Amino acid sequence: MPTLFLHFFLFLITTTVTNLIPIVHSNCIEAEKQSLLHFKRSLVFNSSESVKLITWKSRTECCSWLGVTCSTIGSVVGLDISSESISCSIDNSSSLFQLQHLQSLNLADNNFKSSSIPSAIGKLTELRYLNLGDAYFSGVIPIEISRLTRLITLDLSNNSYPSFAEIQNLSMLIHNLTELTELYLDSVVLSGQGSDWCEAISSSLPNLRVLSLFGCRLSGPICDSLAKLQSLHEIDLSLNQLNGSIPSSVVSLPKLERLTLSHNRFSGQVPEFSNTSSPLFDTLIWKTTIWKDKYQHLSSIFKDFCFSIFLQTTSVASLLMVHGCPEIFHRLIFPTIACCLITMAVNPPSFRFAT
Ligand SMILES: *[C@@H]1O[C@H](CO)[C@@H](O)[C@H](O)[C@H]1NC(C)=O
Ligand SMILES: *[C@@H]1O[C@H](CO)[C@@H](O)[C@H](O)[C@H]1NC(C)=O
Ligand SMILES: *[C@@H]1O[C@H](CO)[C@@H](O)[C@H](O)[C@H]1NC(C)=O
Ligand SMILES: *[C@@H]1O[C@H](CO)[C@@H](O)[C@H](O)[C@H]1NC(C)=O
Ligand SMILES: *[C@@H]1O[C@H](CO)[C@@H](O)[C@H](O)[C@H]1NC(C)=O
Ligand SMILES: *[C@@H]1O[C@H](CO)[C@@H](O)[C@H](O)[C@H]1NC(C)=O
Ligand SMILES: *[C@@H]1O[C@H](CO)[C@@H](O)[C@H](O)[C@H]1NC(C)=O
Repeated sequence: MPTLFLHFFLFLITTTVTNLIPIVHSNCIEAEKQSLLHFKRSLVFNSSESVKLITWKSRTECCSWLGVTCSTIGSVVGLDISSESISCSIDNSSSLFQLQHLQSLNLADNNFKSSSIPSAIGKLTELRYLNLGDAYFSGVIPIEISRLTRLITLDLSNNSYPSFAEIQNLSMLIHNLTELTELYLDSVVLSGQGSDWCEAISSSLPNLRVLSLFGCRLSGPICDSLAKLQSLHEIDLSLNQLNGSIPSSVVSLPKLERLTLSHNRFSGQVPEFSNTSSPLFDTLIWKTTIWKDKYQHLSSIFKDFCFSIFLQTTSVASLLMVHGCPEIFHRLIFPTIACCLITMAVNPPSFRFAT
């Protein structure tokens, strides 16, 4: 009991003191507060669906607004207004770009009405994290993003509806983004790069851990030099027009845990893969996605059926390990074995798996 009283007493003292003497770090810089309010006024959003923007009120302390993060000296360093049902465009003169200390900006999952990403984004040179994914941006991605040389994560994914976002010169865009560890460009059009995309990435992004280029209209082969990026944990290059063979140097990257290459035009033999201590061995996604391509002509439900069995019968890993198929199929395992064995007998895979 005495400690409880003591705590209460201390609480009284601290609240009194903090009310009398404003603590510097909890107050945001007035100019930045005005920029935020101005930015909010420029946005069209549905206030009955907004969770964060509705807490931005001029009479309250801006570091306490939802979606706003301040540094200890009160400058706005983080802004997350993802999923706020914003439906308007942002232009170069937006007061957003006055927030010069921003290190993190998330505008994902809104509707920017097919407008282009404003080139003024290049003014936010302190950014480490930038997420403009699923936000209905379209058109050419501004080359000014190349100035954000401190970026660690860049996500421009899935701005593909109703029209596509496009990168005109990937090599230039990423050349100086040497600190990037995660790059997500799913469905951003990269067809203008020819087969240069792979060299551009291998030569510029030595720290890359995640590379996600799903549905980017990429062509050409996967270059051997991608294996220079020894930190790669995840690679998704599915749904492109990649051809040539799959480099074994990439498949055997030491930290690779996930490799998804389905829906491409690869040829030749699937690289031998026998390293049971590699993390990739546990997921087996690369096997399964290649297998799925092979059986493209089968109906998709049937494919999922067979695919789960195929994994279990070819894998020396756990029988319970079933990836990429709906849970219901796990329970239908025995009927599936029968139908898959028949299918594989009729239409055997022509490549060899090392198990
Ligand atoms: C705003 O969201 C509410 C709740 O989801 C919805 O009923 C309303 O139609 C929306 N208003 C507009 C203008 O979209
Ligand atoms: C921003 O300014 C650039 C030129 O500085 C212009 O090309 C671009 O269209 C402008 N973008 C927007 C969204 O206003
Ligand atoms: C983009 O959309 C695809 C398909 O809906 C999804 O699988 C992928 O995770 C999305 N990418 C990101 C980075 O959210
Ligand atoms: C990269 O940075 C260097 C040094 O700041 C600069 O000279 C060069 O033009 C930049 N390259 C690109 C493609 O932005
Ligand atoms: C990108 O820019 C570089 C340097 O200006 C140039 O050499 C290269 O050909 C360009 N690539 C594309 C795909 O336009
Ligand atoms: C890959 O496709 C390109 C153009 O579509 C073609 O020129 C090239 O010969 C193909 N390479 C292989 C190995 O199939
Ligand atoms: C197998 O994978 C482990 C873990 O990634 C790695 O340390 C080892 O060098 C690999 N062995 C071979 C023969 O590639």
